[in-house]
Amino acid sequence: MHDDPRSAREERTISRWTRSQAAAIRRSEETLAPVVYPPAEDIDPDLHIWDTWLLRNRDGTVAEIDGYRVIFSLTAPADLLPGKRHDVATIRYFYSRDGREWTCGGPVFDEGAEQRSAGGRAKSGDDVPFGSRQWAGSALYDETDGDGKLYVYYTASGTRGETDLTYTQRLAVGSGGTVETDDDGLEISGPFDHEILLEPDGTEYEREEQSRGMIYTFRDPWFFEDPQTGETCLLFEANTPVPDPELESDRYDADPAHLDFNGSVGIAVSPSGDPTDWELRSPILEGVGTNQELERPHVVVQDGRYYLFLSSHEHTFAEGLEGYDALYGFVADSLHGEYVPLNESGLVLTNPESAPFQTYSWLAYPHREEILVSSFFNYYDLRGLSLDDVANLPDDEQQRRFGGTLAPTVRLGVDGTETRVLGVLDHGHLPLPREELPPLLSSYRDGDGDGEY
Ligand code: FRU
Repeated sequence: MHDDPRSAREERTISRWTRSQAAAIRRSEETLAPVVYPPAEDIDPDLHIWDTWLLRNRDGTVAEIDGYRVIFSLTAPADLLPGKRHDVATIRYFYSRDGREWTCGGPVFDEGAEQRSAGGRAKSGDDVPFGSRQWAGSALYDETDGDGKLYVYYTASGTRGETDLTYTQRLAVGSGGTVETDDDGLEISGPFDHEILLEPDGTEYEREEQSRGMIYTFRDPWFFEDPQTGETCLLFEANTPVPDPELESDRYDADPAHLDFNGSVGIAVSPSGDPTDWELRSPILEGVGTNQELERPHVVVQDGRYYLFLSSHEHTFAEGLEGYDALYGFVADSLHGEYVPLNESGLVLTNPESAPFQTYSWLAYPHREEILVSSFFNYYDLRGLSLDDVANLPDDEQQRRFGGTLAPTVRLGVDGTETRVLGVLDHGHLPLPREELPPLLSSYRDGDGDGEY
């Protein structure tokens, strides 16, 4: 028995991304994405498009509804300054028959004529999402009981109706929407029943008022059902409370000042399997002392191993560490760990040094023996400018340098604790496992041309 919840917590195995592991982050041939150029055609020129996720079945496979696959993206009007997009983020859906051409079906949630008062709880059948804007999530198409039920998980950011934007983050879901198709396309319609699913508890998961770090996080819910145990889970991005950095510095093998960087990958489970009923558990990974933001965590199961992927930024590493805007990954034999970093440091895929911010917010999914990685085309043609410098450019220059559309999909080979970039597909090309990928160019990453990587 423990009176102090912190000591109970210490007895559980929480995998760590340590400073010494992250100190080995270096670009390499295996982890480098090619330079991205603007696409010939934008998927929707009227929109900025960034974080994107696929509609998936309960078993994690990509849902195909009457021949259509569906993606959800955070979007904002393209005439808005790109740096302002997070303040108005709206989840829109896009559908495609071939995984190449995407049609925008519009916003997923109806904003409703009436704004719910600040802090108000949604009533059943209420069609208005929580938050003053909605951030990233995931989407489940559940056919367990026959008819497909749609669950759109999202981050309720701020509070609906607020006049000054706040950064409160809560995990929410809109459920009960329907998906209909005909020869002309696919339509998602409400009403959705919106619910707040989880808020930080202050012990395992930092509350906003406890935060000393640069950017507070409790967001990006990602539905996952463990194929080996059947456990129904929700992963999310969070921070670990470190109430007394002096006391905890030994435990994390970091200076007290580094402990303000306290990113974690959180997990909740649904004991009944109900996709709207969650209990918080200890995080599955912590980057305390290492990195502040472990964004959009998600898992791909390949060869019976659990590959945990997340996105992070150059500027969110703690002092003394140098990382990149990149996809990072970890592997374990079970969902709860213990995780070891892929490629020793955790670095899986990053942008070239000459274009360090060209893509961000990666999403990995399995394709036969490969893993495909989607992301969005972010800032390019910066010629050495930092992201802070970009914010000081004239508006039209900020717009010109922002991609705001899907990036080329990257093909990854995976072998145990190692990954390597094998090649790329077109911007926004998201093939299903039943669809063949083009043959790999033998010159690409295959030094001796023998077809072995
Ligand atoms: C990653 C991210 C997500 C968040 C969204 C907000 O690109 O920071 O964690 O949900 O952007 O726009």
